[in-house]
Amino acid sequence: MKAIRIENHGGPEVLQWVEMDLPVPGPGEVRLRHTAIGINFSDINVRRGGFYYPEPMKMPLTPGNEAAGIVEAVGPGVTDFAAGDRAGYVGMHGPFYHNTGAYAEQRVVPADRLVKLPDGITEPQAAASMLKGMTAASIVEHMYVPKPGDTILIHAAAAGVSLLLVQWVKHLGARVIGTAGSQAKAKVAKDHGCDEVILYRETDFVSEVKRLTGEGVHAVYDGVGKDTFVKSMDCVRPFGTLVNYGNASGHVPPIDLLWCAAKGSLSVCRPAVSFQMAKTEDLRRNCANFFKLILDGAIKVEISRTYRLEDAAQAHRDVEAGLATGSMLLVP
Ligand SMILES: NC(=O)c1ccc[n+]([C@@H]2O[C@H](COP(=O)([O-])OP(=O)(O)OC[C@H]3O[C@@H](n4cnc5c(N)ncnc54)[C@H](OP(=O)(O)O)[C@@H]3O)[C@@H](O)[C@H]2O)c1
Repeated sequence: MKAIRIENHGGPEVLQWVEMDLPVPGPGEVRLRHTAIGINFSDINVRRGGFYYPEPMKMPLTPGNEAAGIVEAVGPGVTDFAAGDRAGYVGMHGPFYHNTGAYAEQRVVPADRLVKLPDGITEPQAAASMLKGMTAASIVEHMYVPKPGDTILIHAAAAGVSLLLVQWVKHLGARVIGTAGSQAKAKVAKDHGCDEVILYRETDFVSEVKRLTGEGVHAVYDGVGKDTFVKSMDCVRPFGTLVNYGNASGHVPPIDLLWCAAKGSLSVCRPAVSFQMAKTEDLRRNCANFFKLILDGAIKVEISRTYRLEDAAQAHRDVEAGLATGSMLLVP
C-alpha cells in the first residue's frame, strides 16, 4: 500500500508519497480501505511541528486523524464489524497528534474507534465532517448553547468547522453574524445561514458588531485565535461567552482573568474535540446525532476541494493560503 510519510517537520514538501507494508489487524482491530480522508488544520500543525506543547512527535509519521472507507479485514475478537461494512473514524485513543495515520490507502484501527455509516451518509460526507462536526458539537452543546433570540458571532464563517457551526446555530434558532476573509467566502457563509457577514480584513469587526447588535453578542465562536481573540472580548455583551476553539492565525496571547471582569463578567473557554468522543459510546452517540442533522437537511456538508492522496502537499499549501471553504478531502 502507499501512504504519505514525513521524516521531519517542515513545509508541505516534507509530505512524501511512499510504499509501505500492508498492516495486518491484530486482536480487536480492523483494517479499513480508505475511500475518503479528511483534511484538518491540525494536520498542518502536526506537519509544521512546535504547535502542540507536549513531547516531540515520533518520526517518521503519517499525518491525518479522520477517514472513511470499507472494512477489508477484521482481527481476532472483532464481532461488530465485518468485511464490506462502510465505516469512518475520527481520532484514536490518546493525544491525536501522537496517533495520526489517516493519509494512507489503508489503515489498521481499533474497532472501538470505528463508527458504522448509516444509509444516506456517504463516505466523503463522513470523512469531510466527523472531526469538524464533533468539534462543532462540543461548542454548541457544552461551551455556549445557542437559543432563539441569541446572536452568535462566528469567525472565518466559511471555514471547515465554522461553516458547520453557522448552520447548527441557525438550526437552533439564533441569529448568526459571521466574519470572512473575502467577498467569495462571505457569500458562502451567507448561503449557509449567516444573517450578516463582516469582511474582517477590511472592516473593524468590533465596531461593526456593536453597530449590528447594540450591546454585543451572546457568544463568539473563534477558530482564528491570535488575530481575533482579544478584540473579540469587546464583541461580547455582559455575561456573554467567548469560545476560542482554534488557532488558525496562531496561539492566542495569555490573558489576564481580570479582563473578563472588566469587559463585562465574561466567560472564556477553550474546548478540545477529544473530550467529545473519548469513550466509544460517546463517539458513536454524538456521531449518530450529527449524522441525523445531515440526513434531516439541517446541516449540509460542503466539500469545496478534493485532491488525490499523493497530492497532499498541494492540499496543505491551499489550506495555509486560506483558499478552502467548508471541507477538503484527499482521495486515494
Ligand atoms: N478545539 C478543537 O478540538 C479543534 C478541532 C478542530 C479544529 N480546531 C482548530 O480550529 C481552527 C479552524 O479549523 P478548520 O478546520 O475550520 O480550518 P480551515 O477550514 O482550514 O479554516 C481556517 C480559516 O481561518 C482563517 N484564517 C485566518 N488566519 C489564517 C491563517 N494565518 N492561515 C490560515 N487560515 C487563516 C481563514 O478564513 P478567512 O479567509 O475567512 O479569514 C481560513 O479559511 C484550526 O486552528 C484548527 O486547528 C480545533
